[in-house]
Amino acid sequence: MGAQMSKPKVYMTRRVPQEGMACVQNGADMEWWDGEEALPRSVLLEKVQDIDGLYCLLTDTIDVELLERAPRLRVISTMAVGTDHIDVAACTQRGIPVGHTPGALTETSADLAFALLMAAARRVVEGVDYVKAGHWKSWGPMLCLGQDIHGATLGIVGFGRIGRAVAARARGFGMQVLVSHSKPIPEELVAEYRIQQVNFSTLLQKSDFLSLHVPLTPHTRYLFGATEFRAMKPTAMLINTSRGGVVHSQALYEALRDGTIAYAALDVTDPEPLQMDDPLLTLSNCLVVPHIASASLATRTKIAMMAAENLLSGLAGQQVPYCINPEVYKENIRK
Ligand code: GLV
Repeated sequence: MGAQMSKPKVYMTRRVPQEGMACVQNGADMEWWDGEEALPRSVLLEKVQDIDGLYCLLTDTIDVELLERAPRLRVISTMAVGTDHIDVAACTQRGIPVGHTPGALTETSADLAFALLMAAARRVVEGVDYVKAGHWKSWGPMLCLGQDIHGATLGIVGFGRIGRAVAARARGFGMQVLVSHSKPIPEELVAEYRIQQVNFSTLLQKSDFLSLHVPLTPHTRYLFGATEFRAMKPTAMLINTSRGGVVHSQALYEALRDGTIAYAALDVTDPEPLQMDDPLLTLSNCLVVPHIASASLATRTKIAMMAAENLLSGLAGQQVPYCINPEVYKENIRK
């Protein structure tokens, strides 16, 4: 083959930080969706028909229907750590490696989980609303009384990278940290983070704050529903920066409305985005931000680059560095 070999064809489903776009453009012939909103499904299904690589986001559903329309597709790279928007098993079955971005957003996501915890505990949003509404006439001995963070018990559900980073922050704030995790946590980690591993029901009963750090899987879908809320303290505050589907939205609404639990601070919702008529938005004890846990300029730039490198490595026939389905490289997988 001559030097004129054409570059692989890639589609990017949204504009990402410039460094990431430039990196892909260096190694591929790239088209992208330039809209402000998420790419319509119909456009995605049309665009995948003749591409070699797909650079996607967590707002894109990558399923069998899409894969069947993409006979040339060799690599998928998502600019996210969570891959629940991708049918990974179907990709593996077709020999398609899927890249993602573990590690790069850990600290930034933990920062937001902690920011939500603090905002919930200290009623920051209500305070802001109170001032803006012109109600602030004098200092008040009973005004905006919240909960102490120091000395409180934080329950962390899931002790992966982000769960651990939240535990480190909690330690610095003088909290006691309980963790429920699917496997026994090694002694060294228990000592390093000064946590106590407990079972899920103990965690529900004892925690003043609960922060969720599990991926969305069939096992974790609706992990929190009416039964779990009833097991929690009525003063408990739920922080969710994982995936909306881990919490049953209607049950959460009812638990907040009825005072079964005190407060929820959500970076993720189900559905996402929330519609303006969603009952959760009528509650004064529910704070919602628009899925921004990894949204610092530095981190989004880093993950945009990481996703670009995953994609280009795969297209160059190398192993995708951060691959969620490395079994795709085993010999007996269909290529
Ligand atoms: C964000 O939610 C991510 O999965 O990267």
